[in-house]
Amino acid sequence: MQVLIETRGLKTHFPILKGVLRRQAGAVRAVDGIDLKIGRGEWLGLVGESGCGKTTLGKTIIRLIPPTSGHIYFEVPEDIKEDIERQKEHKKAKGYSTLELKYDLAAFPSRKLKAFRRRMQLVHQDPYTSLNPRMKIRDIISEPIVVHRLLPRRERMGRVAEILEMVGLSEKQMARYPHQFSGGQRQRIAIARALATKPSFIVFDEPTSSLDVSVQAQILNLLMELKREQTLTYLYITHDLSVAESVCDRIAVMYVGKIVEIGKPEEIFRSPKHPYSQALVLSTPLPDPTRKRGRLVLPGEVPSPTNPPSGCRFHPRCTRATEECIHTEPLLTAGDTGSVACWHPLN
Ligand SMILES: Nc1ncnc2c1ncn2[C@@H]1O[C@H](COP(=O)(O)OP(=O)(O)OP(=O)(O)O)[C@@H](O)[C@H]1O
Ligand SMILES: [Mg+2]
Repeated sequence: MQVLIETRGLKTHFPILKGVLRRQAGAVRAVDGIDLKIGRGEWLGLVGESGCGKTTLGKTIIRLIPPTSGHIYFEVPEDIKEDIERQKEHKKAKGYSTLELKYDLAAFPSRKLKAFRRRMQLVHQDPYTSLNPRMKIRDIISEPIVVHRLLPRRERMGRVAEILEMVGLSEKQMARYPHQFSGGQRQRIAIARALATKPSFIVFDEPTSSLDVSVQAQILNLLMELKREQTLTYLYITHDLSVAESVCDRIAVMYVGKIVEIGKPEEIFRSPKHPYSQALVLSTPLPDPTRKRGRLVLPGEVPSPTNPPSGCRFHPRCTRATEECIHTEPLLTAGDTGSVACWHPLN
């Protein structure tokens, strides 16, 4: 796998402020130490219960939310990443901050960040609120082209027409407003807008969860085609494991700010290694009648990211937990087929 994006020790904590003086009383540790590699051209799924930090992670990777600590590397050669790691150990080493400012997206100053933004885009869940109702479609799609000064004025409408066609809409619809379109069409417009800057990486935050199943399938087919034709890389956040299984190249399972397992869909579905992945898989309705499915109700509540459990965060809900799980945090170990962070993995 050729790595396009890599995060190392990425954390995003939201401060909790209390009292008149607004003193920091704690933090929501929404993303709490993520090491993740996304391959060029890969469609990586991100699944996990509500509130586990999926949206925060997606937005942090593309720097829509500033990270608290850690590194984000976008198309950075391995030897430079290693250089940065080495030099970090001697914080004062000359060249460390220069390298970081040059290569680490987490440390980019705002001017550099703006220039970088066009290479990464986000498509939201709700096509009803993500498009400005007062703007015509052509302006919605050409806005990023204008902001990033990508094309002279006379060439813009040609490009908008081209993108509309790419997402299965027609040039004739350019002068319409968002309310004149259906939910599925609006999501096509949101995708068109994301494509306008010719990005190489797109984060989708539950892009089809508000759509009918048939429309959902059309959008997924469109994403598949676009990925192939435009050599795109996707981070695809979803609640729907069966969608993730059918479209993703790999799936990362997130639990309270951490990735607990990552692997190919067939591994996660047929032989999950983390007890939490197993619980998720077993709680997903599956259309395939030949597949066995037990009923599994997860005991206990999802822990608060403000005060996550010690050791393995899943231990209070895990039937396999031992002393070790309570006291020591398991790290993602790279296996031949996938990675899991668990002291007593299944399979
Ligand atoms: N701007 C913010 N300020 C403070 N806390 C936040 C902020 N954004 C998110 N959080 C908290 O961070 C945690 C993770 O939220 P996030 O939206 O990333 O979860 P999610 O996995 O996307 O959930 P869902 O599946 O419901 O969309 C939650 O506890 C949430 O309340
Ligand atoms: Mg979310």
